[in-house]
Amino acid sequence: MTVLDGKKLANKIIDGLKQKIQKLDIKPSIAVILANDNPASKIYVKNKEKKALELGCNSYIYSFDENVKEDEIISLIEKLNKDKNINAILAQLPLFKHLDEQKILNTIEPVKDVDGFTIYNTGCLAQNAKPYSIPCTPKGIIKLLKEYNIKLDGKNIVVIGRSNIVGKPLSLLLLNENATVTMAHSKTKNLKEVCLKADIIISATGQKNLIKADMIKKDAIVVDVGISRNSDNKITGDVDFENVKNKASYITPVPGGIGPMTIACLIENTYELFLKQNCLEK
Ligand code: GUN
Repeated sequence: MTVLDGKKLANKIIDGLKQKIQKLDIKPSIAVILANDNPASKIYVKNKEKKALELGCNSYIYSFDENVKEDEIISLIEKLNKDKNINAILAQLPLFKHLDEQKILNTIEPVKDVDGFTIYNTGCLAQNAKPYSIPCTPKGIIKLLKEYNIKLDGKNIVVIGRSNIVGKPLSLLLLNENATVTMAHSKTKNLKEVCLKADIIISATGQKNLIKADMIKKDAIVVDVGISRNSDNKITGDVDFENVKNKASYITPVPGGIGPMTIACLIENTYELFLKQNCLEK
């Protein structure tokens, strides 16, 4: 069994980006909108900012409390869309319940949509055309599998979880890589049987210990995108790692697997949007 070391690959990507960003006269800039008081979202946003600053990017966080009006956020995004000094805009999800997520995300100019969540960029992904950005977590998963020379062409891949952030864009990316993709979710019947047919299982549910050793075939590849906390406050994923690792050929750990890849891809997306907006070659 080989552990897919996301932290190591993320550090390699970040080191490469740091060198490229250092050579630029103007620094790429990212604006992050935080309209949710969820403590986990605050930590994610702080971590994104820390990494962006460490790499020499500019980062601006716009935090709102629960009294914020949708129009205030829409006006801010319209202002950021026009601002030549801002290259990337991210609205951290989830948003406060009274806010229309679709409307807010789709106010972001596709060329500044660092998450690739707008209808334009999602549509490009669905048509296997060229989106301005590919969603960070799915992009990170594919990069990590490719780093270990894991072939996707013709593989039976089960993606568990149908979120707009991970499951749906990931299934499109895998389809574009010629995989045979099955999407499973909370209403799927016989998840165990579905998983037992898979060469690769990618779980993104946030449900602790969902994937157990008897649900995978021998030498399957297991990717864990879940992040939740144990009773002792330790971070854990969707997979019963200790038991599944003995049966899998490759497996991602939590932490140190997909999490660091997501942040590395966010900075990469910011840098790539900067290049596109400034008509610079990659
Ligand atoms: N919430 C959880 N993951 C993400 C992400 O990748 N992007 C945004 N915008 N919100 C998230």
